[in-house]
Amino acid sequence: MNLSQLKSRFLNHENINFLSSAQGLVKLIVCSHHSTGVIHLQGAHVTSFVPKNRKEFLWLSPLAKYKKGKPIRGGIPICWPWFGAHPSDPSLPQHGFARTSIFEIDKITDLNDGSVTVQLSLQVRGDYLKFGVLSFYLKVQINVGVSLTVTMTSVIDNGYSIPWSEAIHSYLAVDDIQNTSLFGLRDTRYYNQLSGQVECQLDDSVYFDQEIDRIYKQPSNLLTVIYKNKNLLKIQQSGSDATVIWNPWVNKAKLIQDFPDQGYQNMLCVEAANLETRDQRSGKQEHSISQMIS
Ligand code: BG6
Repeated sequence: MNLSQLKSRFLNHENINFLSSAQGLVKLIVCSHHSTGVIHLQGAHVTSFVPKNRKEFLWLSPLAKYKKGKPIRGGIPICWPWFGAHPSDPSLPQHGFARTSIFEIDKITDLNDGSVTVQLSLQVRGDYLKFGVLSFYLKVQINVGVSLTVTMTSVIDNGYSIPWSEAIHSYLAVDDIQNTSLFGLRDTRYYNQLSGQVECQLDDSVYFDQEIDRIYKQPSNLLTVIYKNKNLLKIQQSGSDATVIWNPWVNKAKLIQDFPDQGYQNMLCVEAANLETRDQRSGKQEHSISQMIS
């Protein structure tokens, strides 16, 4: 659907506006009673969430590219149907193809609590048919309200064997990473992607003074981002078996093209993930993972 078709289809939603970037990427501006959110149809990607009278919750790279088929750096990319490198084919794109695919809008709902829910979907064809999957799709539901909630639901219909992993890859905005900590992971084991070792979180909080890339296994469902001893953001997760924490720090930031050299000081990725490769057989299977930021 092009921009004018979308505008006429959702004409009765006065709180929604559609815009197109110079490169042709369509985004929706959602104004709920409590907040404003921006969602790009490419990747069902939330690029902004600002509650009334509050600052932006999400970090978005000033060097982000808004081009068809290129991931947008920052906001909330969706990693699906695999996280990181593809398990068997390294030529396939890092973090899957959902983040660079164009989603359809299924419906937009104004809820009684003053929030707005946008439901998008992506139907998968092509390569996955070789696994015998007749229908495999992803629904992404984004609620823009007092909080921001992103829910991904993977649906396999009549499939008999398909592996997948996934993540809601949120880039949170922080004023100064060195005065920021993350509470809620004490006594949790994690895989340190930088050292290749399994380690355990002994401190109450995770502190940031160097590059970090960790996969916490079976973490608590409630995490708090703390800035200078004050609670900044609360993160609630469900349906996930891992939390990924990432900040590229000085050297890695310089190597990432669409990432400003100093950008690492103002962001922190806290990602709700399912990384134990799933392999479903027969019948209709549905699995949801959700992250709420408030
Ligand atoms: C994180 C990974 O989730 O995403 C990191 O743990 C990775 O290893 C980071 O570098 C960014 O990935 P990308 O593909 O968006 O540059």
